Amino acid sequence: MTMEWNAQEYEVLAAPMTGWGARLLERVELRGDEAAVDAGCGTGRVTEMLLGRLPRGTVLAVDASAAMVEAARERFAGDDRVRVECVDLLELEVGEPVDLVLSTATFHWIKDHDRLFGRLAAALEPQGRLVAQCGGEGNISRVRAAAGAVMEEERFRPYFEGWEDPWNFADPAITRARLEAAGFEDVEAWLHEEPTEFGSVEGLARYLRTVVLGRHLEALPKGEGEAFAAAVAARLGEEGEFVVDYARLNMLARRSA
Ligand SMILES: C[S@@+](CC[C@H](N)C(=O)[O-])C[C@H]1O[C@@H](n2cnc3c(N)ncnc32)[C@H](O)[C@@H]1O
Repeated sequence: MTMEWNAQEYEVLAAPMTGWGARLLERVELRGDEAAVDAGCGTGRVTEMLLGRLPRGTVLAVDASAAMVEAARERFAGDDRVRVECVDLLELEVGEPVDLVLSTATFHWIKDHDRLFGRLAAALEPQGRLVAQCGGEGNISRVRAAAGAVMEEERFRPYFEGWEDPWNFADPAITRARLEAAGFEDVEAWLHEEPTEFGSVEGLARYLRTVVLGRHLEALPKGEGEAFAAAVAARLGEEGEFVVDYARLNMLARRSA
């Protein structure tokens, strides 16, 4: 089941993801007239950069969160190069196959990568490109440990019985194999680290609440989410550094002819 997001907060807090998206896009050569899908577009900040490279192209921006889709629709109102649809990527179907699928900070929220990559391959023209980045093996290990410890506290423990970790932080080798099995070739997959510093424990707590701990907060009664995120941030900041230990999994591939 997909999760709802606070799109207004995400828009304000998304600088790390936007920066990584910009750097990923720099790796992509484009003619400017491609048809693309942005898979998990959020509020559209990375989609906007993609559109900047596609003056004669089109983008189908899809996201499973109604709030994200509404924000992206507002952002692109009047731009007839863009269509924004509320779709679970595991059910993705495009009318006409596209030249490029771009995706940033999304795939780790999806457990079934075999099915996901199959849907993306089906959306691409033969030789169409997949360019993606998401959380990979080891991503936010310190945050997970801190959240795990707070979940064990008496105040929060009852809400997390039977709760499942939402993430799929895959490693490059398994990702390469899955992409090839789904019909991709020229596959490259690699990890890089992006430790990200926040100025204060309050800033870190605000960020975690919206960007990282959404699934945890869903399990909690209203009013407890803030205290939970504050407790995770406080644990993380115990040594005076407010860092999220991001590790990003990058993927470049072509759909086989
Ligand atoms: C961290 S945001 C990334 C947004 C944007 N790509 C960026 O880099 O700022 C993750 C997005 O993935 C979307 N998402 C997660 N699982 C999804 C799924 N199964 N289908 C479609 N979108 C999904 C969420 O709704 C959310 O908007």
